[in-house]
Parts: sequence; C-alpha cells; structure tokens
Amino acid sequence: MTPRSKITGTGSYVPKKVINNLYFEKKLDTSDEWITERTGIKERRIAGRKETNSDLCLEASKKALRAAGLKAKDLDMIIVATMSGDMPMPSTAAFLQSKLGARKIAAFDINAACSGFLYGLSVADNFIRTGAVKKLLLVGAEMNSRFLDWEDRATCVLFGDGAGAVILEPTRSKTRGILSTNLYSDGDMWDYICVPGGGSNYPASAKTITEKKHYIKMRGNETFKIAVRTLEKLVINTLKKNNIKPSQLSMLIPHQANLRIISATAKRLKLPLDKVALNLDKYGNTSSASIPIALDEVVREKKIKKDDYILLEAFGGGLTWASALIKW
Ligand code: ACO
Repeated sequence: MTPRSKITGTGSYVPKKVINNLYFEKKLDTSDEWITERTGIKERRIAGRKETNSDLCLEASKKALRAAGLKAKDLDMIIVATMSGDMPMPSTAAFLQSKLGARKIAAFDINAACSGFLYGLSVADNFIRTGAVKKLLLVGAEMNSRFLDWEDRATCVLFGDGAGAVILEPTRSKTRGILSTNLYSDGDMWDYICVPGGGSNYPASAKTITEKKHYIKMRGNETFKIAVRTLEKLVINTLKKNNIKPSQLSMLIPHQANLRIISATAKRLKLPLDKVALNLDKYGNTSSASIPIALDEVVREKKIKKDDYILLEAFGGGLTWASALIKW
C-alpha cells in the first residue's frame, strides 16, 4: 500500500503591526460599518519596512518544525505558496531554505493566488505518496501590503500579511491522513484578480508605475458571485467523491476572503459557524496564508482531534479553486 501523507506539525506567524478599519475611515471614502458588513474584516496585520516574506515564512516554519519534533536539517523538500514573494527570482523557498539552514534539498514556490496553499498541499501529498520525499515543509505566506494601492478603497481594505506552515510526513494509517485534494483553474478569467505590472508583459517602467500596474486589481463583485457558486459545488463534490456526508464533518477551514462567501458555503453544508475556522476579522485576506494560519489556530486551540474529518477550500486569482479532505 502506498503511504498517505499526514500533517505532523503546524505553525503560523503574523506581523505585529495592526491596522483597523478606522485607519481607512480616516483616509478614504469608506467606513468601519461598510467593511465589516460587506467582508467581516475588522483589522489586518501589516509587515514592518524591514520584514520580508521569507522572514514571515521563517517564523511560521520554526513553529511547525518544533510542533513536529523536527530540525530544519531533517527536511527533504520545501514548498512556499505565495503570490508576493521576496523577489521575482530566486524563489522565496530558496531564501527560506537559507534562513532555516536546511540541507541542499529541493525548494520551490507555487503561485495559485489564494488557492496556493491547497495547490501546495496537493503537490506535497503526491511527493510523499510516491515515497520520494519523507519530511516536507509547506508554507503559505503573503506580503500583500506591498502590492496594494492604498488609495483604492475597493482592494486595500481587504488584504493583510502573514504566514502559515505545515510539516507533512508519510503515515501507514489505513484511514487517516490527507484523503483527497482537488485542484481547478480557469485561465480565461485571469483578469478578475491580477497584478498586471512587473512581469514580462509589462516590465517595471516609469509608465507602469504611473499607471499603478504593480498593484492588485480585482473585479470584486463578479469574483464574489463566481466564488459563491463554485465553492458550493466544490465542497459538495469533494465530500461525495469520498463518500462522506456533510453531517460527518467536524470542521470547515475555508480561505478567508469574505465572511459572506464563507457563510454561503457553510450553509450549503448545513454546518453551524462554530464548526468553521474563522480569522478574517483579525487578519483580513492573507491569500495563500489564510488556510494554514487558520489550521494552526484550530490545532493549537485543540478544536480538532484524532479521526475528525476536516474540509479545506479556497478560491482565488487564476481563477483557481481547490479543496482538500483530511481525516485528522
Ligand atoms: N468602502 C465603501 N464603499 C466601497 C468600498 C469601500 N471600501 N469598496 C467598494 N465600495 C463601493 C463600490 O464603489 C460600489 O459603489 P457603487 O454602488 O456606487 O458603484 C459599492 O460599494 C458596491 O461595490 P461592490 O463591489 O458591488 O461590493 P460587494 O458587496 O461585491 O463587496 C467585495 C466588495 C468585498 C470586494 C466583494 O465583492 C468580495 O469579497 N469579492 C470576492 C473577493 C474574493 O473572494 N477574491 C478571491 C480571493 S483574492 C486573491 O486571490 C488574491
């Protein structure tokens, strides 16, 4: 029997600086009331000037390694899911490897925007199932604040910075571990959420900076409608595929973009909100970091226990969407 993979340690880190909704109320034509009602967000964490994405990765990774009882030198592979890495090249995973002092192992980034962590989880799970990798560090980390137009009320109030990490190892258990991962993308809808500048299409120039091409652009309301429809179908299909009834679920860990999207998904599953991991009120949308941060919180608060079914889901730029079902 090929081994399944299992999460053996979790960790997370958010920068110290807190920006609440009143900060935006003072600067822009917005209000705490609008942001709270439309998104569920009350505050977010913003990295300090000298902090880098890989610094956030490092803090989350150290905690995950400690929780798994491992040292950095034990790792066989490092994957970082991010859309806001330290540099276009090299990968943020390479910086993290260096900062951790890990051996000369494979280290690479994955970019699937807010679905990035689940894309990474799927890649990690497959590496472990083949037997090629035994101890894998997967991090979801974002420095969204560096890609925000702080004058655009439609985007700057939504995002935050942070990192979450997990250690994956093989398990011989016949019933527990990562049961299934499901990844989807529709590149026809690339322009619903994008950062148009800074890549090879629009390399950085005075013009791209004047045109604010280096910031996150989002067709918010259209994305919202597609996200609700897509995620409702995704969660139901994921459970069906694994012969699990919604009533058997112990916890839903959704990507934290909008409380209204999360509530619609929970309603479709007939899950009360106390079985849903929520932290977007504290951190906003931390893209690929949101699921591993929420996972770390529920693990440390002992809200999940052995044999619980946990469903993870995300939707984001690409457009991409993804799910994972875990028996803890
Ligand atoms: N304060 C006050 N008014 C605002 C603000 C704000 N911060 N932002 C927008 N508005 C205004 C708009 O201009 C619009 O005004 P108008 O009616 O005069 O034109 C009105 O509020 C309604 O705007 P909508 O965009 O229709 O508002 P909506 O209810 O859809 O909420 C939001 C916007 C929060 C962005 C929502 O659409 C959403 O969450 N979308 C999905 C986000 C998502 O899931 N993204 C995927 C992950 S992100 C990633 O992958 C990087």
